[in-house]
Amino acid sequence: MIDPEVQKTRNMTFEINHVIVNRWSPRSFVPYDIDDADLFSLFESARWAPSSSNSQPWRFIYAKRNSENWNDFFNLLIDFNKQWCADAAALVVVVSRKNFENNEKPSITHQFDTGAAWENLAIQAVSQGLATHAMAGFDYDKARKTLQVPDNYEVMAMVAIGKRGSKEKLSPELQAREIPNTRKPLSEIVMDGKFGNRPKSL
Ligand SMILES: Cc1cc2nc3c(=O)[nH]c(=O)nc-3n(C[C@H](O)[C@H](O)[C@H](O)COP(=O)(O)O)c2cc1C
Repeated sequence: MIDPEVQKTRNMTFEINHVIVNRWSPRSFVPYDIDDADLFSLFESARWAPSSSNSQPWRFIYAKRNSENWNDFFNLLIDFNKQWCADAAALVVVVSRKNFENNEKPSITHQFDTGAAWENLAIQAVSQGLATHAMAGFDYDKARKTLQVPDNYEVMAMVAIGKRGSKEKLSPELQAREIPNTRKPLSEIVMDGKFGNRPKSL
């Protein structure tokens, strides 16, 4: 079922699995301690993403709220993200191996592969009643140093995971943005045969 809140703003031209459209990135979380079984189901879902030559370049480094590493992760964030991440249940730094492990040749698609893994995680979270919010707003160099990420891995993004809280917890500016957003029409992103050719059925 499409979430009634989602239905208000998101329209689809073609039928899809509702879990996909029900995923969105809220900023209000209720403080809650996620248990390992729930958190690791998310990583398990990421594990099953496809990748070039099944190389599985994704790696996930996490800190749960109230854990000894939480402050290290939280302090990587820019102030904008700090204002809403404090009640997240976990912060995850996603990194990606740049070269294939079997021959150390550069992988052209490692970011594509790791992106697929993150989306699996985000979709699985919806089905577990959890929310995720990816972030590029953090100090990438500091993340590499603090988390001891080796040079042959690229720091890709951070993800906040949590249970949704009420909109009222947020500043007025963020409250206005606490709503499932929309997308470009299919006619802008799908091309028939050559770049720019609009499919007849759109
Ligand atoms: C790689 C990446 C980086 C992002 N960085 C931030 C961020 O630093 N702060 C933030 O509030 N949202 C961030 N977002 C959230 C996006 O703005 C959001 O995913 C996008 O607007 C689509 O909305 P939806 O996820 O709710 O469908 C990021 C998302 C991605 C995928």
